[in-house]
Amino acid sequence: MTTHVLAAVAALAVVTVGSAAAAPRDYVLPEEMAQFRPGRGDKAGHAAAQANCLTCHSADYVAMQPPGKGAAFWEAEVTKMIKVYHAPIGEADAKAISAYLAATY
Ligand code: HEC
Repeated sequence: MTTHVLAAVAALAVVTVGSAAAAPRDYVLPEEMAQFRPGRGDKAGHAAAQANCLTCHSADYVAMQPPGKGAAFWEAEVTKMIKVYHAPIGEADAKAISAYLAATY
């Protein structure tokens, strides 16, 4: 009986020492993709994207597109979201969002 208790106490001591010795680690996390990147000087377009483009999916879909696609690509992309997927986005917001995406992504 006494040996069992002693063994248990010894095991506990090992566990405690083990966790106390664990040093803090630094993790490098991937770039935040769920939110839209801050705009390059285009605060209105960024705000419109945050307000209108995150209701169905995260900003990952935008961040995953190859960089440097240009204005025509992003206009078509925003139009597709509105026409095909029925995103309720007004014309002014759609223009601001397209310009922001072309400049930022
Ligand atoms: C009404 C819902 C809805 C809204 C709002 C919406 N999307 Fe989408 N989006 C979708 C769906 C559905 C897909 C296709 C998902 C799939 O194919 O897996 C998609 C896919 C995408 C893709 C991937 C490429 C593609 O064409 O499939 C991009 C980029 C994108 N959306 C950007 C945007 C932007 C920018 C906005 C804001 C202007 C936006 N989305 C708003 C529904 C929406």
